[in-house]
Amino acid sequence: MQRIPMALAEADYEVPVTATITGARPRMDQSERSDLVSRIKTLLRQRDAVLVAHYYVDASLQRIAEETGGCIADSLEMARFGKEHPASTLVVAGVRFMGETAKILSPEKRVLMPTLEAECSLDLGCPADAFRVFCEQHPDRTVVVYSNTSVEVKALADYVVTSSIAVPLVTHLRDQGKKILWAPDRHLGDYIRRETGADMVLWDGACVVHDEFRSRELEKLRKDHPAAAVLVHPESPRDVILQADVVGSTSQLIAAVKERPEREFIVATDNRIFYRMQQAAPDKRLIEAPTGGHSATCRSCAHCPWMAMNDLTSLADALEHGRDEVFVAEEERQKALTATQRMLDFAAAHRRTVAGDA
Ligand code: 13P
Ligand code: SF4
Repeated sequence: MQRIPMALAEADYEVPVTATITGARPRMDQSERSDLVSRIKTLLRQRDAVLVAHYYVDASLQRIAEETGGCIADSLEMARFGKEHPASTLVVAGVRFMGETAKILSPEKRVLMPTLEAECSLDLGCPADAFRVFCEQHPDRTVVVYSNTSVEVKALADYVVTSSIAVPLVTHLRDQGKKILWAPDRHLGDYIRRETGADMVLWDGACVVHDEFRSRELEKLRKDHPAAAVLVHPESPRDVILQADVVGSTSQLIAAVKERPEREFIVATDNRIFYRMQQAAPDKRLIEAPTGGHSATCRSCAHCPWMAMNDLTSLADALEHGRDEVFVAEEERQKALTATQRMLDFAAAHRRTVAGDA
Protein backbone atom coordinates (compact mmCIF):
# COMPACT_ATOMS: atom_id res chain seq x y z
CA MET A 1 0.00 0.00 0.00
CA GLN A 2 1.31 3.42 -0.90
CA ARG A 3 0.15 6.62 0.68
CA ILE A 4 0.83 10.28 0.09
CA PRO A 5 1.05 12.79 2.94
CA MET A 6 -2.24 14.29 3.96
CA ALA A 7 -2.87 17.26 1.68
CA LEU A 8 -4.86 19.22 4.19
CA ALA A 9 -4.30 18.67 7.88
CA GLU A 10 -7.38 18.62 10.07
CA ALA A 11 -6.16 21.78 11.76
CA ASP A 12 -6.47 23.64 8.43
CA TYR A 13 -10.22 23.54 8.45
CA GLU A 14 -12.69 24.40 11.10
CA VAL A 15 -14.88 21.66 12.49
CA PRO A 16 -18.11 23.23 13.73
CA VAL A 17 -18.94 22.46 17.35
CA THR A 18 -22.41 21.00 17.42
CA ALA A 19 -23.34 22.48 20.78
CA THR A 20 -22.55 25.99 19.59
CA ILE A 21 -24.65 25.58 16.53
CA THR A 22 -27.71 24.12 18.18
CA GLY A 23 -27.30 26.60 21.01
CA ALA A 24 -27.08 29.53 18.60
CA ARG A 25 -30.82 29.53 17.97
CA PRO A 26 -33.34 30.29 20.69
CA ARG A 27 -34.90 27.04 21.91
CA MET A 28 -38.36 26.31 20.52
CA ASP A 29 -41.16 24.95 22.67
CA GLN A 30 -43.26 22.01 21.50
CA SER A 31 -45.99 24.10 19.89
CA GLU A 32 -43.48 26.29 18.00
CA ARG A 33 -41.81 23.15 16.72
CA SER A 34 -45.04 21.62 15.48
CA ASP A 35 -46.02 24.93 13.80
CA LEU A 36 -42.66 24.95 12.04
CA VAL A 37 -43.03 21.32 10.96
CA SER A 38 -46.50 22.10 9.52
CA ARG A 39 -45.09 25.11 7.69
CA ILE A 40 -42.29 22.99 6.20
CA LYS A 41 -44.80 20.38 5.02
CA THR A 42 -46.95 23.08 3.38
CA LEU A 43 -43.91 24.66 1.73
CA LEU A 44 -42.79 21.29 0.36
CA ARG A 45 -46.18 20.96 -1.36
CA GLN A 46 -46.31 24.57 -2.57
CA ARG A 47 -42.78 24.45 -3.99
CA ASP A 48 -43.22 21.03 -5.65
CA ALA A 49 -40.31 19.90 -3.49
CA VAL A 50 -39.27 16.58 -1.97
CA LEU A 51 -37.02 16.10 1.05
CA VAL A 52 -34.05 13.75 0.58
CA ALA A 53 -32.44 13.15 3.97
CA HIS A 54 -29.42 11.19 5.19
CA TYR A 55 -29.71 8.90 8.24
CA TYR A 56 -27.30 11.16 10.16
CA VAL A 57 -29.55 14.26 10.23
CA ASP A 58 -31.74 15.07 13.19
CA ALA A 59 -34.75 12.75 13.72
CA SER A 60 -37.16 15.69 13.28
CA LEU A 61 -35.99 16.08 9.67
CA GLN A 62 -36.00 12.33 9.03
CA ARG A 63 -39.61 12.23 10.28
CA ILE A 64 -40.67 14.98 7.86
CA ALA A 65 -39.06 13.09 4.97
CA GLU A 66 -41.00 9.98 5.98
CA GLU A 67 -44.31 11.76 6.38
CA THR A 68 -44.13 13.67 3.10
CA GLY A 69 -43.07 10.97 0.64
CA GLY A 70 -39.38 11.89 0.70
CA CYS A 71 -36.57 9.50 1.51
CA ILE A 72 -34.14 8.75 4.30
CA ALA A 73 -31.22 6.85 2.89
CA ASP A 74 -27.51 6.25 2.45
CA SER A 75 -25.60 8.34 -0.11
CA LEU A 76 -26.18 5.91 -2.98
CA GLU A 77 -29.93 5.71 -2.45
CA MET A 78 -30.21 9.50 -1.94
CA ALA A 79 -28.61 9.98 -5.37
CA ARG A 80 -30.88 7.47 -7.04
CA PHE A 81 -34.06 8.71 -5.34
CA GLY A 82 -33.40 12.36 -6.21
CA LYS A 83 -32.73 11.53 -9.84
CA GLU A 84 -35.84 9.43 -10.26
CA HIS A 85 -38.33 11.54 -8.27
CA PRO A 86 -40.61 13.76 -10.39
CA ALA A 87 -40.49 16.84 -8.07
CA SER A 88 -38.94 19.94 -9.64
CA THR A 89 -37.09 20.84 -6.40
CA LEU A 90 -34.92 18.51 -4.32
CA VAL A 91 -34.18 19.58 -0.75
CA VAL A 92 -31.13 17.66 0.37
CA ALA A 93 -30.65 17.40 4.14
CA GLY A 94 -27.11 16.16 4.59
CA VAL A 95 -23.72 17.55 3.64
CA ARG A 96 -22.64 19.53 0.60
CA PHE A 97 -21.33 16.68 -1.54
CA MET A 98 -24.80 15.08 -1.29
CA GLY A 99 -26.43 18.25 -2.65
CA GLU A 100 -23.81 18.43 -5.40
CA THR A 101 -24.40 14.79 -6.35
CA ALA A 102 -28.13 15.55 -6.69
CA LYS A 103 -27.31 18.50 -8.97
CA ILE A 104 -24.82 16.46 -11.03
CA LEU A 105 -27.54 13.90 -11.71
CA SER A 106 -30.48 16.30 -12.06
CA PRO A 107 -29.26 19.60 -13.54
CA GLU A 108 -32.79 20.54 -14.59
CA LYS A 109 -33.98 20.45 -10.96
CA ARG A 110 -33.54 23.09 -8.34
CA VAL A 111 -31.45 21.65 -5.49
CA LEU A 112 -31.70 23.36 -2.11
CA MET A 113 -29.97 22.54 1.16
CA PRO A 114 -30.73 23.70 4.72
CA THR A 115 -27.16 25.01 4.70
CA LEU A 116 -24.34 24.95 2.16
CA GLU A 117 -21.92 25.29 5.08
CA ALA A 118 -22.42 21.61 5.94
CA GLU A 119 -19.09 20.22 4.77
CA CYS A 120 -17.37 16.85 5.12
CA SER A 121 -13.79 16.38 6.35
CA LEU A 122 -13.11 13.92 3.51
CA ASP A 123 -14.18 16.45 0.89
CA LEU A 124 -12.22 19.27 2.60
CA GLY A 125 -9.15 17.04 2.92
CA CYS A 126 -8.96 16.35 -0.82
CA PRO A 127 -8.63 19.63 -2.76
CA ALA A 128 -8.93 19.22 -6.54
CA ASP A 129 -5.55 20.83 -7.40
CA ALA A 130 -3.57 18.52 -5.11
CA PHE A 131 -5.63 15.55 -6.24
CA ARG A 132 -4.90 16.34 -9.91
CA VAL A 133 -1.15 16.18 -9.12
CA PHE A 134 -1.65 12.82 -7.38
CA CYS A 135 -3.49 11.49 -10.47
CA GLU A 136 -0.70 12.77 -12.75
CA GLN A 137 1.81 10.80 -10.66
CA HIS A 138 -0.12 7.58 -11.43
CA PRO A 139 -1.26 7.82 -15.05
CA ASP A 140 -1.58 4.02 -15.36
CA ARG A 141 -4.23 3.73 -12.64
CA THR A 142 -8.02 3.77 -12.79
CA VAL A 143 -9.19 6.65 -10.61
CA VAL A 144 -11.94 5.64 -8.15
CA VAL A 145 -13.19 8.30 -5.74
CA TYR A 146 -15.56 8.13 -2.83
CA SER A 147 -18.77 10.06 -3.23
CA ASN A 148 -17.65 12.26 -0.28
CA THR A 149 -15.71 14.58 -2.63
CA SER A 150 -16.30 17.82 -4.51
CA VAL A 151 -17.65 17.97 -8.04
CA GLU A 152 -14.15 19.04 -9.20
CA VAL A 153 -12.58 15.88 -7.75
CA LYS A 154 -15.34 13.69 -9.20
CA ALA A 155 -14.62 15.33 -12.58
CA LEU A 156 -11.08 13.87 -12.41
CA ALA A 157 -12.33 10.35 -11.67
CA ASP A 158 -13.15 7.32 -13.79
CA TYR A 159 -15.60 6.01 -11.16
CA VAL A 160 -17.41 7.42 -8.17
CA VAL A 161 -18.43 4.93 -5.46
CA THR A 162 -20.28 4.98 -2.16
CA SER A 163 -19.48 2.60 0.68
CA SER A 164 -22.40 0.34 -0.26
CA ILE A 165 -21.01 -0.49 -3.71
CA ALA A 166 -17.24 0.10 -3.35
CA VAL A 167 -16.17 -3.53 -2.77
CA PRO A 168 -18.17 -5.07 -5.68
CA LEU A 169 -17.08 -2.29 -8.05
CA VAL A 170 -13.37 -2.53 -7.19
CA THR A 171 -13.62 -6.36 -7.42
CA HIS A 172 -15.00 -5.89 -10.93
CA LEU A 173 -12.12 -3.53 -11.87
CA ARG A 174 -9.55 -5.88 -10.32
CA ASP A 175 -10.95 -8.75 -12.43
CA GLN A 176 -10.29 -6.60 -15.50
CA GLY A 177 -6.65 -6.29 -14.41
CA LYS A 178 -6.97 -2.62 -13.42
CA LYS A 179 -4.74 -0.97 -10.84
CA ILE A 180 -6.59 1.54 -8.68
CA LEU A 181 -5.93 5.05 -7.40
CA TRP A 182 -8.28 5.63 -4.47
CA ALA A 183 -9.33 8.80 -2.62
CA PRO A 184 -9.94 10.22 -0.12
CA ASP A 185 -10.73 7.96 2.89
CA ARG A 186 -7.65 5.95 3.91
CA HIS A 187 -9.59 3.56 6.18
CA LEU A 188 -12.22 2.76 3.56
CA GLY A 189 -9.45 2.41 0.94
CA ASP A 190 -7.52 0.05 3.21
CA TYR A 191 -10.67 -1.99 3.84
CA ILE A 192 -11.48 -2.25 0.11
CA ARG A 193 -7.89 -3.27 -0.64
CA ARG A 194 -8.00 -6.03 1.99
CA GLU A 195 -11.41 -7.27 0.81
CA THR A 196 -10.56 -7.31 -2.89
CA GLY A 197 -6.79 -7.82 -2.99
CA ALA A 198 -6.70 -5.07 -5.65
CA ASP A 199 -3.50 -3.09 -6.27
CA MET A 200 -4.39 0.31 -4.78
CA VAL A 201 -2.63 3.55 -3.92
CA LEU A 202 -4.47 5.56 -1.30
CA TRP A 203 -5.00 9.23 -0.60
CA ASP A 204 -4.53 9.99 3.09
CA GLY A 205 -7.86 11.42 4.22
CA ALA A 206 -10.15 10.55 7.14
CA CYS A 207 -13.60 11.21 8.49
CA VAL A 208 -13.41 13.21 11.72
CA VAL A 209 -16.28 11.21 13.19
CA HIS A 210 -15.40 7.60 12.35
CA ASP A 211 -11.67 8.11 12.88
CA GLU A 212 -12.46 8.59 16.58
CA PHE A 213 -13.79 5.09 17.25
CA ARG A 214 -11.31 3.33 19.54
CA SER A 215 -10.40 -0.34 19.27
CA ARG A 216 -9.15 -0.95 22.81
CA GLU A 217 -12.27 0.55 24.35
CA LEU A 218 -14.37 -1.46 21.90
CA GLU A 219 -12.66 -4.67 23.07
CA LYS A 220 -13.62 -3.81 26.65
CA LEU A 221 -17.20 -3.01 25.67
CA ARG A 222 -17.51 -6.32 23.81
CA LYS A 223 -16.46 -8.15 26.99
CA ASP A 224 -19.30 -6.42 28.86
CA HIS A 225 -21.75 -7.40 26.08
CA PRO A 226 -20.54 -10.79 24.82
CA ALA A 227 -23.80 -11.53 22.98
CA ALA A 228 -23.83 -8.27 21.04
CA ALA A 229 -23.06 -8.09 17.32
CA VAL A 230 -20.63 -5.32 16.30
CA LEU A 231 -21.65 -3.15 13.33
CA VAL A 232 -19.02 -0.86 11.81
CA HIS A 233 -19.03 1.72 9.02
CA PRO A 234 -15.88 1.21 6.90
CA GLU A 235 -14.67 4.80 7.44
CA SER A 236 -13.56 3.54 10.88
CA PRO A 237 -9.94 2.57 11.70
CA ARG A 238 -8.69 -0.91 10.72
CA ASP A 239 -8.50 -2.22 14.34
CA VAL A 240 -12.16 -1.31 14.81
CA ILE A 241 -13.21 -2.87 11.50
CA LEU A 242 -11.37 -6.09 12.40
CA GLN A 243 -13.70 -6.52 15.40
CA ALA A 244 -16.86 -6.17 13.32
CA ASP A 245 -19.51 -8.80 12.65
CA VAL A 246 -20.83 -6.58 9.86
CA VAL A 247 -18.98 -3.86 7.93
CA GLY A 248 -21.22 -1.80 5.68
CA SER A 249 -22.85 1.41 4.54
CA THR A 250 -25.47 3.03 6.71
CA SER A 251 -28.30 1.17 4.92
CA GLN A 252 -26.46 -2.13 5.23
CA LEU A 253 -25.97 -1.61 8.99
CA ILE A 254 -29.68 -0.86 9.44
CA ALA A 255 -30.57 -4.02 7.51
CA ALA A 256 -28.22 -6.00 9.78
CA VAL A 257 -30.01 -4.81 12.94
CA LYS A 258 -33.31 -5.90 11.43
CA GLU A 259 -32.21 -9.24 10.01
CA ARG A 260 -29.64 -10.62 12.44
CA PRO A 261 -30.73 -12.79 15.39
CA GLU A 262 -28.79 -10.93 18.11
CA ARG A 263 -30.77 -8.78 20.57
CA GLU A 264 -27.93 -6.28 21.19
CA PHE A 265 -25.77 -4.31 18.76
CA ILE A 266 -22.68 -2.20 19.28
CA VAL A 267 -22.76 0.41 16.53
CA ALA A 268 -19.69 2.28 15.21
CA THR A 269 -21.17 5.05 13.11
CA ASP A 270 -22.99 8.37 13.63
CA ASN A 271 -25.52 7.86 16.42
CA ARG A 272 -28.35 9.71 14.61
CA ILE A 273 -28.75 6.43 12.70
CA PHE A 274 -30.33 5.00 15.86
CA TYR A 275 -33.63 6.67 14.92
CA ARG A 276 -33.99 4.47 11.86
CA MET A 277 -32.42 1.37 13.46
CA GLN A 278 -34.84 1.54 16.35
CA GLN A 279 -37.76 1.84 13.92
CA ALA A 280 -36.50 -1.18 11.97
CA ALA A 281 -36.10 -3.28 15.13
CA PRO A 282 -37.90 -1.69 18.10
CA ASP A 283 -37.19 -4.59 20.46
CA LYS A 284 -33.41 -4.59 19.98
CA ARG A 285 -30.84 -2.77 22.10
CA LEU A 286 -28.40 -0.38 20.45
CA ILE A 287 -25.14 0.60 22.13
CA GLU A 288 -22.80 3.33 20.89
CA ALA A 289 -19.27 2.17 20.11
CA PRO A 290 -16.72 4.11 22.20
CA THR A 291 -14.98 7.17 20.74
CA GLY A 292 -11.85 8.94 21.92
CA GLY A 293 -13.98 11.12 24.17
CA HIS A 294 -12.57 14.04 26.12
CA SER A 295 -9.02 12.74 26.29
CA ALA A 296 -8.63 12.64 22.51
CA THR A 297 -9.23 14.98 19.60
CA CYS A 298 -12.91 14.08 19.35
CA ARG A 299 -15.02 17.16 18.71
CA SER A 300 -18.09 15.36 17.52
CA CYS A 301 -18.34 12.14 19.54
CA ALA A 302 -20.23 9.88 17.16
CA HIS A 303 -22.18 12.67 15.56
CA CYS A 304 -21.07 14.51 12.45
CA PRO A 305 -20.88 18.23 13.33
CA TRP A 306 -21.77 19.19 9.76
CA MET A 307 -24.80 16.89 9.61
CA ALA A 308 -25.90 18.55 12.86
CA MET A 309 -26.13 21.91 11.05
CA ASN A 310 -29.32 20.71 9.34
CA ASP A 311 -32.21 21.78 11.53
CA LEU A 312 -35.89 22.71 11.25
CA THR A 313 -35.22 26.45 11.03
CA SER A 314 -32.66 26.20 8.24
CA LEU A 315 -34.88 23.74 6.38
CA ALA A 316 -37.82 26.15 6.57
CA ASP A 317 -35.59 29.06 5.45
CA ALA A 318 -34.32 27.09 2.47
CA LEU A 319 -37.87 26.40 1.32
CA GLU A 320 -39.25 29.82 2.14
CA HIS A 321 -36.51 31.97 0.61
CA GLY A 322 -34.78 29.59 -1.81
CA ARG A 323 -31.61 30.18 0.17
CA ASP A 324 -28.60 27.89 -0.11
CA GLU A 325 -29.20 26.62 -3.60
CA VAL A 326 -26.60 24.26 -5.11
CA PHE A 327 -24.95 25.29 -8.40
CA VAL A 328 -22.16 23.44 -10.20
CA ALA A 329 -20.13 24.52 -13.24
CA GLU A 330 -21.47 22.76 -16.34
CA GLU A 331 -18.12 21.51 -17.70
CA GLU A 332 -17.22 19.89 -14.38
CA ARG A 333 -20.74 18.57 -13.95
CA GLN A 334 -20.59 16.74 -17.29
CA LYS A 335 -17.30 15.06 -16.37
CA ALA A 336 -18.47 14.21 -12.84
CA LEU A 337 -21.70 12.85 -14.30
CA THR A 338 -19.84 10.26 -16.37
CA ALA A 339 -18.07 8.86 -13.28
CA THR A 340 -21.23 9.04 -11.14
CA GLN A 341 -23.48 7.47 -13.75
CA ARG A 342 -21.02 4.56 -14.08
CA MET A 343 -21.59 3.87 -10.38
CA LEU A 344 -25.38 3.96 -10.73
CA ASP A 345 -25.27 1.68 -13.79
CA PHE A 346 -22.90 -0.73 -12.05
CA ALA A 347 -25.07 -0.72 -8.89
CA ALA A 348 -28.22 -1.48 -10.92
CA ALA A 349 -26.51 -4.38 -12.75
CA HIS A 350 -25.07 -5.66 -9.45
CA ARG A 351 -28.52 -5.60 -7.82
CA ARG A 352 -29.93 -7.64 -10.72
CA THR A 353 -27.11 -10.19 -10.40
CA VAL A 354 -27.59 -10.51 -6.64
CA ALA A 355 -31.39 -10.87 -7.09
CA GLY A 356 -30.82 -13.50 -9.81
CA ASP A 357 -28.47 -15.47 -7.54
CA ALA A 358 -30.88 -15.41 -4.58
P1 13P B 1 -23.21 6.12 3.55
O1 13P B 1 -23.05 6.15 2.07
O2 13P B 1 -22.95 4.79 4.16
O3 13P B 1 -24.56 6.66 3.94
O4 13P B 1 -22.08 7.05 4.20
C1 13P B 1 -22.02 8.43 4.00
C2 13P B 1 -21.18 9.06 5.01
O5 13P B 1 -20.85 10.22 4.89
C3 13P B 1 -20.72 8.26 6.13
O6 13P B 1 -19.98 9.03 7.00
FE1 SF4 C 1 -18.10 13.36 6.13
FE2 SF4 C 1 -17.63 11.91 8.27
FE3 SF4 C 1 -19.59 13.69 8.30
FE4 SF4 C 1 -19.82 11.41 6.83
S1 SF4 C 1 -19.70 11.57 9.06
S2 SF4 C 1 -20.34 13.49 6.20
S3 SF4 C 1 -17.69 11.17 6.17
S4 SF4 C 1 -17.40 14.14 8.11
